[in-house]
Amino acid sequence: MASKNDRSAWLKGGTAQCACETALAGPDQPRRFVLLGAPGVGKGTQAELLSQNLGACQLSTGDIFRAAKSLDPCDRTPALEAALGYMKRGELVPDETVLNLIRERVGCLRCGGGFLLDGFPRTVAQAEALAQLLAGEGIKMDAVLSYDLPMEQIVSRLSGRRTCSQCKAVFHVTTKPSKVEGVCDHCSGALSIREDDRPEAIRVRMEAYHKSTAPLADYYRRKGLLVEIPAAGAPEEIYARTMTALAAKPA
Ligand code: AP5
Repeated sequence: MASKNDRSAWLKGGTAQCACETALAGPDQPRRFVLLGAPGVGKGTQAELLSQNLGACQLSTGDIFRAAKSLDPCDRTPALEAALGYMKRGELVPDETVLNLIRERVGCLRCGGGFLLDGFPRTVAQAEALAQLLAGEGIKMDAVLSYDLPMEQIVSRLSGRRTCSQCKAVFHVTTKPSKVEGVCDHCSGALSIREDDRPEAIRVRMEAYHKSTAPLADYYRRKGLLVEIPAAGAPEEIYARTMTALAAKPA
């Protein structure tokens, strides 16, 4: 199993460097994936399993915004401050803001450990910008993992999600409950409902997904990168399904 990285370079940007639990030699063959799918389908849960098993870091754009929330307001740029407003309402953050954050973190795309992009790209304009960035760096992506689940199951995953206010670990009231209700198993932090998991914000997020993100499946299918994975079942089953689908993908 690969060493765990604290993702400082991704979460903080700028000159921040990652700390690894052991020296990161990097796998022989770094894996590079985009994870696609509706809000709450389980991208973050799969990214964690993929990261544990393949060594690549989970690079979630949502996590950058959530990390920015804990910064002193004086340390947030006006664009980041505005992004938090979009996120709270469930709307997509403007492409230019997201792309500036990605350009600042291009070192994470170059990382010898590979990458698991989670929540980026989310529009065709973002996908085109990513393609340009990767081409400029001479980096090839392995595949785009597209997870799919019926809407009623997605809503149940989202409405039962609880997140640790300190270490950001993710639980679910029925499918992954914490040992003590409302308390994180890992750091004893308080578990809370994400601001954008309120019903009004969920509705806006789903609309944004259908309008702007769902068309990316066709975009990546045309490029021969799309791997479609049904996301029903336990996380480990979906992970195994992912590995099987990847093994069957023509090179
Ligand atoms: P982001 O953080 O990316 O959120 P999201 O895409 O809405 O996805 P989620 O984190 O809600 O869900 P997930 O699919 O990761 O599911 P999870 O594994 O947690 O984005 C948030 C916001 O930031 C956006 O709305 C936007 O405002 C902004 N943003 C971010 N990136 C952007 C971009 N590129 N452009 C513009 N704006 C951007 O699972 C959900 C729950 O289900 C958990 O409780 C989990 O325990 C449970 N669960 C997971 N898998 C299973 C399973 N197999 N069985 C049972 N339960 C399961």
